[in-house]
Amino acid sequence: LASVEVDLSSIPRGQTVKILWRGKPVFIRHRTDAEIAKAVADDTADLRDPQTDEQRTEKPEWLIMVGVCTHLGCVPLDQRGEFGGWFCPCHGSHYDISGRIRKGPAPRNMEVPTYAFLNDTTVKIG
Ligand code: FES
Repeated sequence: LASVEVDLSSIPRGQTVKILWRGKPVFIRHRTDAEIAKAVADDTADLRDPQTDEQRTEKPEWLIMVGVCTHLGCVPLDQRGEFGGWFCPCHGSHYDISGRIRKGPAPRNMEVPTYAFLNDTTVKIG
């Protein structure tokens, strides 16, 4: 499928769901206020692939990104690593709660796909 619609209403804050889109995992995280605050605070950190959290999200409470490590393509683990986001166990890349690469060999942030909110609880990815 070129695009996929996802019902967000059953995803509580503080949880991530993983869906498949064009054969790739996409992470949808319903972020807490603390996570959003941390992501925004880290906009000014020394970022390898500089992007603000606002550039990576349509709505701050929803982080939607392709769950593929930009090093060699493993699927990072949710809520691990040194920056409170994701950790790739293959070679040790650490991503923050905005999905930005912070440590390890990966060169870029996890990719944000094209998406649009159709209403408050439905997002169309792709
Ligand atoms: Fe993720 Fe190498 S594939 S660190």
